[in-house]
Amino acid sequence: MDIAVIGSNMVDLVSYIDQMPKEGETLEALSFSIGCGGKGANQAVAAAKLGAKVMMLTKVGEDLFADNTIRNLNEYGVDTEFVSKVPGTCSGVAPIFVDKQSQNRILIIPGANKHLLPVDIDAAAEKLKKCSLFVLQMEIPLPTIYYAIEFGNKHGIPVILNPAPASRELDLNYVQKCEFFVPNETELEIITGMPVETEQQIEAAAMSLIQKGIKNVIVTMGKRGALWLTEEQVHHVEAYKVNAIDTTGAGDAFIGCFAHVYVKNRDVLMSIKMASAFAALSVTGRGTQTSYPDVATYEQFLQRHGK
Ligand code: RIB
Ligand code: NA
Repeated sequence: MDIAVIGSNMVDLVSYIDQMPKEGETLEALSFSIGCGGKGANQAVAAAKLGAKVMMLTKVGEDLFADNTIRNLNEYGVDTEFVSKVPGTCSGVAPIFVDKQSQNRILIIPGANKHLLPVDIDAAAEKLKKCSLFVLQMEIPLPTIYYAIEFGNKHGIPVILNPAPASRELDLNYVQKCEFFVPNETELEIITGMPVETEQQIEAAAMSLIQKGIKNVIVTMGKRGALWLTEEQVHHVEAYKVNAIDTTGAGDAFIGCFAHVYVKNRDVLMSIKMASAFAALSVTGRGTQTSYPDVATYEQFLQRHGK
């Protein structure tokens, strides 16, 4: 196995809207679609679509969504040996609102994802030990995240932590043990308590994490590109200009592609550039996983942009 994603899955209930209703108001929206999502599953699918061997550790509920989620992961070639059902719970769901400016607002109801526990990591230990990289997000309980980080450290497996959705409770002592910490601007603001309006502010906030002993901070900034900081250097990677339709899941596309390229060649800058291209393409399509390009489309895009 190349990559283990230890994280969430959700069913995305996506409404495309003109405007959000006010309190007590009923509005007609433009359209609706249902899709497989969840930050963990999105990242797993992104990497698998590019050809990575990916296993996923996640929990589904006991409902009509559960089998569909497992089938969907399998269709993309994600190993689901350690995906299990939690009796008496609902699967994670995410009502999502995408506006005319292609920006999204997301609510998550984690459901079964709350039941992914350290014991589940122990149960999958033999298989996890053989992975080259762990990918974590924050739609599962914090103790599970911390346990996964320590498991990775113990077995010499580098860990990427994408602190999404962000929580002030995240213990930076564990983040120090990760190889990569990849927030977006909003998450960076919540975690550092520092302003992130300008690029200078973003850099200062990210630098404050480096000063706290975090190894690699990569801030994804949408159309403003990405920033990569270590103790020695700061790199800005430009975003690709595309016609955005739906930005939902673009951060996950970035992480999944980054993980895949990094496992292949261990070149961080190249992985960020490749991930930026993959994420850019994803915003040109609706939905999350459904908008991730296949290898052929992705390669065409890279060629057109001279990469
Ligand atoms: O990052 C996008 C994802 O966030 C959606 O797929 C939704 O399920 C939420 O987890
Ligand atoms: Na998209």
